[in-house]
Amino acid sequence: MSDYDPAENARKSYDVAIDALREKLASFRCERVGDATLFLGDCREILPLLPKVDAVVTDPPYGLGDWNERGSNKGRPFSDVSNETQEWDQPLTADDVAALRKAGKHQILWGANYYLDSLPRTKMLMIWNKGIRRMHFNDAEVAWTSGFREAVRVFDLSPSGLEKEHPTQKPLALMRWCLSYLPKAETILDPFMGSGTTGVAAVQMGKRFVGIERDRKYFEIACRRIEQATREPRLDLEPPAKPKQEGLL
Ligand SMILES: C[S@@+](CC[C@H](N)C(=O)[O-])C[C@H]1O[C@@H](n2cnc3c(N)ncnc32)[C@H](O)[C@@H]1O
Repeated sequence: MSDYDPAENARKSYDVAIDALREKLASFRCERVGDATLFLGDCREILPLLPKVDAVVTDPPYGLGDWNERGSNKGRPFSDVSNETQEWDQPLTADDVAALRKAGKHQILWGANYYLDSLPRTKMLMIWNKGIRRMHFNDAEVAWTSGFREAVRVFDLSPSGLEKEHPTQKPLALMRWCLSYLPKAETILDPFMGSGTTGVAAVQMGKRFVGIERDRKYFEIACRRIEQATREPRLDLEPPAKPKQEGLL
């Protein structure tokens, strides 16, 4: 019987590609943690040096402070983030969005309502329904996707009680839900990794992960969380249930 394992082969190919680019990437701090490769640096500089991945799953900065200034929320808190646009919260440009789309075969891009003008139409949006209905907070968050044949999907989860090490940290269960739609994806890339939630979900689900974060403090947090996840038992999720047609009343 052949020992050939396509998943293992894909992992090795990615390692070989990264090794070939090692010289160009050498100016960035890079940590290898199990099946995860984590870069400290600006993804605008690092992304063009990386091989294409199976899926980009990310939660980019939205420029929330900027929206507060310009939007109807002026002068009022829009989220947990303060009114000032933070250094780490500079909004995406159309070129950034194009680079994200080029970096992977599939994409799940959170906060899409903030940069819809840079995205084509899609069939499948992913919605995180927070179950809160308040004036100054988002009732839900929206991810734009590409490469899926699904309809719009909703994940219900209250953010209350979530322990956070990053001001806009996503719940781990939400990121695992995202990855459950990518059963065949071997390598997941998050170029705006923050505290590393996508990486923890990827490692827990046995996927290779590549993360980029330019803020040293959040990079260290991501390294620690992902390292810890590699020491815990792997968590295989069932793929999302197949939809079934309900009878109309
Ligand atoms: C919305 S947060 C991501 C939070 C993450 N989903 C989590 O659960 O912790 C976006 C992150 O992108 C980082 N960032 C912003 N611009 C960047 C860039 N050009 N390259 C790399 N990281 C960047 C910020 O420092 C911030 O931590």
